[in-house]
Amino acid sequence: MNIGVLTGGGDCPGLNPVINGVVRNALKQGHQVTGVLRGWQGMIEKSTRPLDRNSVSGILPRGGTIIHTSRTNPYKDPALIDKVVKNFKEMGLDALIAIGGDDTLGVANKLYKDFKLPTVGVPKTIDNDLSGTDCTFGFDTAINIATDAIDRLHSTAESHDRVMVIELMGRHAGWIALEAGLAGGADMILIPEQEAKIDDVVAVVKKRHDMGKNFSIIVVAEGATLGDDFATVSEEKDAFGHVRLGGIGNTVAREVEKRTGFETRVTVLGHVQRGGTPTAFDRVLGLRFGVKAVDLVIEKNFGQMVAKRGNDIVSIPLEEAVAKLKTVTPEYYETAKIFFG
Ligand code: F6P
Repeated sequence: MNIGVLTGGGDCPGLNPVINGVVRNALKQGHQVTGVLRGWQGMIEKSTRPLDRNSVSGILPRGGTIIHTSRTNPYKDPALIDKVVKNFKEMGLDALIAIGGDDTLGVANKLYKDFKLPTVGVPKTIDNDLSGTDCTFGFDTAINIATDAIDRLHSTAESHDRVMVIELMGRHAGWIALEAGLAGGADMILIPEQEAKIDDVVAVVKKRHDMGKNFSIIVVAEGATLGDDFATVSEEKDAFGHVRLGGIGNTVAREVEKRTGFETRVTVLGHVQRGGTPTAFDRVLGLRFGVKAVDLVIEKNFGQMVAKRGNDIVSIPLEEAVAKLKTVTPEYYETAKIFFG
């Protein structure tokens, strides 16, 4: 078999381990692997590179993706979809493994349903918001980077008697903010799932000062709101209709400083959360996901996504995985609230 593999959407630590898992398992079972470059863009342009044993050597600790990525959405235009289906045949592919988040996997699912294209999905996102899997690879790395940043902000906040606001990624789900905030001992965490009031943030900061704690750490997910629309960097949308988020951290900081009189600073961690070497957890999860994806291809079990359930790697219908996002439950947020203030 000639197994195609592509990575779509935002990059994520652990993509290269998945590619490694795909290639090593496929070669071991007598198949070949074609890397499709820049996600769905590569299927439109027939842009590929063969992936052999040598091309995946040494990539385990490397961040990013050796086959590049893009946010191209072929379903934006029926002509592009026709091209993808036609090119799949012309490229001599027997199956396609799509590694991505809900957008990329949504396309893989539609291609399977609309054209019976033999696709298998692998869940990727630092946001950890895909359903059907205990977690996605990349999330562990992201929360470790974010926790380290919060730790570092603590010492400078304390030295200067300042409020520090840190804005973390998380478009629709606050997993990174919640878990890095908990691990880093944040005094307040704002997430998209729970609309916050600036008065609550101000109350926490003031209470801490009353207790003699002259510094505070506020963690804010980029998709969190204060009752208005998302804070956006630009109104421009990507191919999947997402606006670029960002700015809620500044809004929170400005309001806190205005209402408390305490000096406040903002850190927007941004793409640092996605860059660099994956943790051991994400490397192993990536490898296992890659191996399982190839097993599904060989079994001709298409329209499926690999998933982590407890210690096992299983498969679930792609349809189920992309049906709805996995968000932070109110119960989990209640637990986090115990540590606010
Ligand atoms: O989808 C993951 C994510 O990290 C989101 O949290 C964030 O909004 C988005 O990617 C930003 O990605 P980019 O700047 O690459 O479009």
